[in-house]
Amino acid sequence: MQIHTALTYDDVLLVPQKSDIKSRQDVDISSQLTKNIKLKTPIVSANMDTVTESKMAIAMALAGGIGFIHRFCSIEYQVKEVERVKRKQNIVIDNPFIVSPKDTLLEVKEKIKEYNCKSFLVTNEDQELLGILTNRDSTFAKNDAVLVEELMTPKSKLITAPYDISPARARELMANNKIEKLPLVDNNFKIKGLITATDIAKNYNNAHASKDSKGRLIVGAAVGVRGDYMERVDALVKAEADVIVVDIAHGHSDNAISAIQTIKTKYPNVEVVGGNVATAKGALDLIKAGADCIKVGVGPGSTCITRTTTGFGVPQLTAVFNAARVCLKYNIPLIADGGIKQPGDMVKALAAGASLAMLGGQLSGTKETPGPTITYHGQQYKISRGMASLTAALSRPDAKENISNITPEGVEARVPYRGPVNNILGQYIGGLRSGMSYGNARNLSELRASAEFVRITNAGMRESTSHDNMVL
Ligand code: XMP
Repeated sequence: MQIHTALTYDDVLLVPQKSDIKSRQDVDISSQLTKNIKLKTPIVSANMDTVTESKMAIAMALAGGIGFIHRFCSIEYQVKEVERVKRKQNIVIDNPFIVSPKDTLLEVKEKIKEYNCKSFLVTNEDQELLGILTNRDSTFAKNDAVLVEELMTPKSKLITAPYDISPARARELMANNKIEKLPLVDNNFKIKGLITATDIAKNYNNAHASKDSKGRLIVGAAVGVRGDYMERVDALVKAEADVIVVDIAHGHSDNAISAIQTIKTKYPNVEVVGGNVATAKGALDLIKAGADCIKVGVGPGSTCITRTTTGFGVPQLTAVFNAARVCLKYNIPLIADGGIKQPGDMVKALAAGASLAMLGGQLSGTKETPGPTITYHGQQYKISRGMASLTAALSRPDAKENISNITPEGVEARVPYRGPVNNILGQYIGGLRSGMSYGNARNLSELRASAEFVRITNAGMRESTSHDNMVL
């Protein structure tokens, strides 16, 4: 039997190339997620329940990347998280939240909590606009039993506009009249949408954000391959998730292939990421099944123990390199998922042929991750866990009663609280820009084309990190 050597990020370095790049700002780090979706920042947040829900996905899209919302929750919960992202930065909100004139303030307060939204349009049963209820209208209400119709600003005092108003005209109208909400109505005064001042301002200010054709932030959502997965896909497509991520631990399997085929047959225009695989053959089979992007990584993740539990996996640089040969041939982007511990690892993954890097552990502990912050011996922490860890398995609705039936392929960890995720993303983007100047690459294709890897020894690795001083 021939046994090949396989390498990972720490086994190699990239050889510096003669560079004519004058500034790190002169390089273009944009990359394709699929043939139809281009990101300005080639970073994706992992679909793990301690990494990506709506807050992380919003931060990722605002930074020019994308977040994939995990699937370890009910369909309703996941859909709500997708909707939160889609509503975050929309010039036109197609289905604004509404209340009835006969609702009490107490009922409105419940909706405020449920929808995380502080103002509502007031309509009758025919969707005709009757008024608007904002914080200002309700702050000084006598009690919670007061009806909306007594508090709202009535339609006679509202400025409205037609649905097809241009963003520039809407901005002008809102600025001239000093209003924060602009309801959009048809000729019969039926509500067709809403524009908010915050969304207008954000859309003008965030030129780098990842947006869909309507100016909304983009988001991906993960699904499995068994049980009610098509019900989940239907609901996510309805909620207008931009990408469906078919993500299982062993993606080179009949189940994953058939799930991708089923989704692409039902929704040919929906973008599908398929994974996870660790070989060229795995990538090819998922591409043939219809995947628009391939996710690569079996066992390299910071909370993964698949390799020690099962004996299977491929060191990540080799896995990316082999799968990339096929992906490049078919012009299908590749996400390098797992094992990235520092910005240089991401540069190596992109140079080896990945279009994007997925980060899990590196984003954990940040403000935008789900879950509370805990204090232990005066230091703040958040929890990070593998999706095949014991606690993750136990928290699923279908968890087996008998704990001894669960064989974990992941671990739980506490990670120091690290503040806003933008701090981390800034380091990764800075490292990549700098790396591209060492590689004389103006864009990611040039980085790949000029990449010259050398294999290093343990001594080389030791030399590569800070050494022989007392690090402060
Ligand atoms: P990092 O290194 O960025 O990796 O934390 C994130 C990726 O790890 C994978 N993942 C797992 N792999 N057991 C595994 O073998 C697990 O429990 C587990 N949970 C997450 C996943 O691909 C993720 O994106």
